[in-house]
Amino acid sequence: MTRIVVVGSINMDLVTLAPRFPDPGETLTGDRFLTIPGGKGANQAVAAARLGASVAMVGCVGDDAFGQQLHDGLVAEGVDVTHVGRVAGIGSGTASITVAGGENSIVVVPAANGRVTPAHVEAARGIVRGADAVLVQLEIPLDTVEATLRIAHGEGVPVILNPAPAQRLPMDWLSRVRFLTPNQHELATVLGAEGETDFRALMRHAPCPVVLTHGADGAWFREKDEEPRHQAGFKVEAVDSTGAGDTFNAALAVYLPEGLEVAVRKACAAAAIAVSRLGAQGGMPRADEVTALLASQP
Ligand code: RIB
Repeated sequence: MTRIVVVGSINMDLVTLAPRFPDPGETLTGDRFLTIPGGKGANQAVAAARLGASVAMVGCVGDDAFGQQLHDGLVAEGVDVTHVGRVAGIGSGTASITVAGGENSIVVVPAANGRVTPAHVEAARGIVRGADAVLVQLEIPLDTVEATLRIAHGEGVPVILNPAPAQRLPMDWLSRVRFLTPNQHELATVLGAEGETDFRALMRHAPCPVVLTHGADGAWFREKDEEPRHQAGFKVEAVDSTGAGDTFNAALAVYLPEGLEVAVRKACAAAAIAVSRLGAQGGMPRADEVTALLASQP
């Protein structure tokens, strides 16, 4: 069983389904409202657990009602929450999400996620040491991301850095990254090349291996000095893309022991299933569903 540690955000997603996105200043009538556990870190933890990994989460929730629900939700998914802190006097992270026509727009308020410190990662060093991979994203403070890279790299554990939401990062951080997993826009931002649209050139320029998600087109990957390789996406009817990238990252980590090419193919399949269902954690598949989708392909 693959052992994964996820260091990252835990949000309550406040999801409104609407016929279209409102214009600035416009009030629209929506179709439905749901609260669904989310946050890039928690999503990746839940997705990895559903795919059969043993998963531990490092993060923080607030001392509000959402905090208890988010904590209990992770426990129900089988995620080890020993290193999920409950911060007094602050709310849990939230994401206000509008879903329309299979696309989404998201406003995140970090709240307790802003209190995930390097000390939390240091406290989890023992489980990091025993992990097959560590997953980290950019919805927690950057010094905590840096500590995660340093500690995991020091323990000889590969780190998958999902640079979302995009920020420019110091280049020397990337030398400690086993795989950087941006989309095209995120890769340009991380490398300080905003506006550059030649993503294959950016992949060649990156100082670490890159697995680039490319929406319905699938993914591109480059491990060493070779040309970027392509994995086609799996055709599904798009319902909600929220959390598809998180599902991709989790599957990549879970299936990496089977080799990069297999892992990317399975990650594309898992992400396609996630896109075909509503909600981030609502849409994440189990391992047998990924196997079935792959088996159904010519
Ligand atoms: O990646 C999707 C996630 O981004 C949502 O669940 C939301 O919480 C935001 O963090």
